[in-house]
Order: sequence, then structure tokens, then C-alpha cells
Amino acid sequence: MSREKSTASQPVLPWKPKIVLSLLSVLTDILQRPNGTINRRLHDFVDLKAKARDKPVNGVRTSDLTVDATRNLWFRLYIPTDTTPTGGDGTLPVIVYFHGGGFAFFSPNSIFYHDVCHRFARKIPAVVISVNYRLSPEHRFPSPYEDGFDTLKFLDEAKFPNFPAYADLSKCFLAGDSAGANLAHHLACRIGKTEFRNVRVIGQISVQPFFGGEERTASEIRLGKGQMVAIPRTDWVWRAFVPEGENRDHEAVNVTGPRGVDIRGMKYPETMVVVGGFDPLQDRQREFCEWLRRSGKEVKLIEYPNAVHAFYFFPELPEASLLMEAARDFVLMVSDEVRVEGDQIKNLIG
Ligand SMILES: *[C@@H]1O[C@H](CO)[C@@H](O)[C@H](O)[C@H]1NC(C)=O
Ligand SMILES: *[C@@H]1O[C@H](CO)[C@@H](O)[C@H](O)[C@H]1NC(C)=O
Repeated sequence: MSREKSTASQPVLPWKPKIVLSLLSVLTDILQRPNGTINRRLHDFVDLKAKARDKPVNGVRTSDLTVDATRNLWFRLYIPTDTTPTGGDGTLPVIVYFHGGGFAFFSPNSIFYHDVCHRFARKIPAVVISVNYRLSPEHRFPSPYEDGFDTLKFLDEAKFPNFPAYADLSKCFLAGDSAGANLAHHLACRIGKTEFRNVRVIGQISVQPFFGGEERTASEIRLGKGQMVAIPRTDWVWRAFVPEGENRDHEAVNVTGPRGVDIRGMKYPETMVVVGGFDPLQDRQREFCEWLRRSGKEVKLIEYPNAVHAFYFFPELPEASLLMEAARDFVLMVSDEVRVEGDQIKNLIG
């Protein structure tokens, strides 16, 4: 079993990811001040950015679009330019992506996330929308969730330039990694109670979702030292995110606990969850899958025994390619299920 394989405490990593991850850990420790604030000026300085480019780069055109300037809510749009749409009907699915970073770090134009979304756009292929939600501690729960929801509402209007006609909003996927996957889950819960006109969320790609709780899990105790998502760092970002006076059993964090949203009677998109064997968060991610199953939802668990948290930052790692293939298969499978369902309904009516 994969769980036994990952009892070694050190993953096998090439030198570049090893160095970059150590560097990110050191930077996180510098940016997270003991008084609960973030050195935002230094964050913005060290967070290297990639520009949007209207001229296709490696088969993908990018542009930035504003949703609400008053709270700096915008997204980066990725449009594949030299792929044949996979839908058979000449359309492409739409992936609404939420970047990770403990709700406190990064943005869609951070080089890591620009590259990740570029790869999703090209490899699936799909039109990708990467959302610049507000960060904590300046903007705590539920600000990022609100931003995610308002971006979906904005897409539902679909009245902005640059949105390609072949992007099919009735084949929408929520996606995210780490804190972004936490955001996607909460958004999935919320839209279960919402009717959109054009947007139909049919699937969710949850990559190493960031969940927590007061209790420490076995994997956190075993692996939560000397890694980027070490316990002191995750405790810090949760404190910065939950409302003042709350703890990690808050509904945003301990989603499978008694305060989490009960999704049993709700619509909830079919989900794939990606788990890494060297991620301290893995026990909670498996529990999340089991909880989805117990709640009667469709979920596919994908395990990469040698993967660390944030492995997808490094395209040279085999798991980064496997993730793109798995996401592609998942998007095709779910889109096909929805098409068959649609045909059946048409036949019934017609
Ligand atoms: C936190 O510490 C930083 C740097 O030491 C300081 O500039 C800032 O004003 C402090 N903020 C609060 C809310 O205490
Ligand atoms: C979630 O919350 C419940 C109730 O507060 C608690 O018993 C449980 O240990 C928590 N789970 C985790 C993983 O912290």
C-alpha cells in the first residue's frame, strides 16, 4: 500500500525543486511576522511576476480582466490558440483556477502559477481563468470565498471582450491547489444552492487541498517538520485566515468536522483529489475523499507516493506531467458523462 511506502521521511527530489522549496520555506518564515501580519512589501518584491501576453506564447494567449477594481478582483485568462477543441462540438471546457499559498501568498501572475495555468490551458486543453482573490490577514474569511463566487457571477454574464466564443460555460470546472483547492471546495458548496444562467460547474480538480483542524494527524506529526508546509507555518496561516477568536475547527478549516457544511442533500460536482505521499496534509485529504463518499458524492482519489506539497511547481518532476494527464482524462470523462446525460434528456423530450 502507498501509505507504507511513504514512511521514509525524505522524498527523492532533484536539486532544483529541493533548493526552490527550501528557499520558499525560508522566505515564508521571513514574511510571516510574529505579530500576525505579513511583510507585504517584501512579499510583492520577492514574488516574481509574469506578464500577460496577447501574442500567443507556446500556444496560449493571456490577458488580465477586471471584475471589481475596488477590491482589486481580477483574473488572468488563458486561451489555447493552436489546439483543436476536444468536445467534438468545437468547444473547450472552462477551468476556474484558484492558486495556493495559504490564503496569504502569491497571485495569478506569480511565475509559478502563471506556468501552472499555462500548462493546464495547453495540456487539457481548456480556457483557464485564474482568479486574483484577496489575501489574508488583510482580508480574512470569507473574503476569498466571496471573490470566487463573484467571479463566477461575472462569468455568468459573459459580457466582456476577449472571452472566446468556443469557451463552453456549461462545461465549467473548479480547480485549485492547496488553499486554492480549499477555496474551490467552499465555492462548490455555495453554488450547490445557486442557479446560474450560463455557468454550469460539472467537475472539480482538487490538488493537495489545504484543510486543517485542532487535532494533529499522523502524517502531520510524521512529516510536518523540515517541509514547506511545516506545522508552525500552517498554524500561522490558519490564524491569519479564520475570524479573530476562532480556531482551526472553524467550518473553513475542519471541513469534515461537525461545523463543516453538510453537503448530503446538495448538488456537488464530481471531484478528483490529488494526494502526495510526502505531503503532511495527506491524511486530511484522504479523510476529505472519504467524507465526500459518505456524503454520496463522486470522487476519484489519485495518489503520487513520491510527491511533496507543491510538486506541480516543477514540470521536470514526473508527477507534474501525471497530474496534467489525470486532469485531462478527468475533464474528458466528466464532459462526456454530461454530454451523454444531455442526449438522453433530449431523446426523452424529443
Ligand atoms: C507588526 O510588526 C511590524 C514589523 O515589526 C510592524 O511594522 C507592524 O506595524 C506591526 N503590526 C501590528 C498590527 O502590530
Ligand atoms: C474536527 O473537529 C472535530 C470537532 O471539533 C474534532 O473532534 C476533530 O478532531 C477535528 N478534526 C481534525 C482533523 O482536527
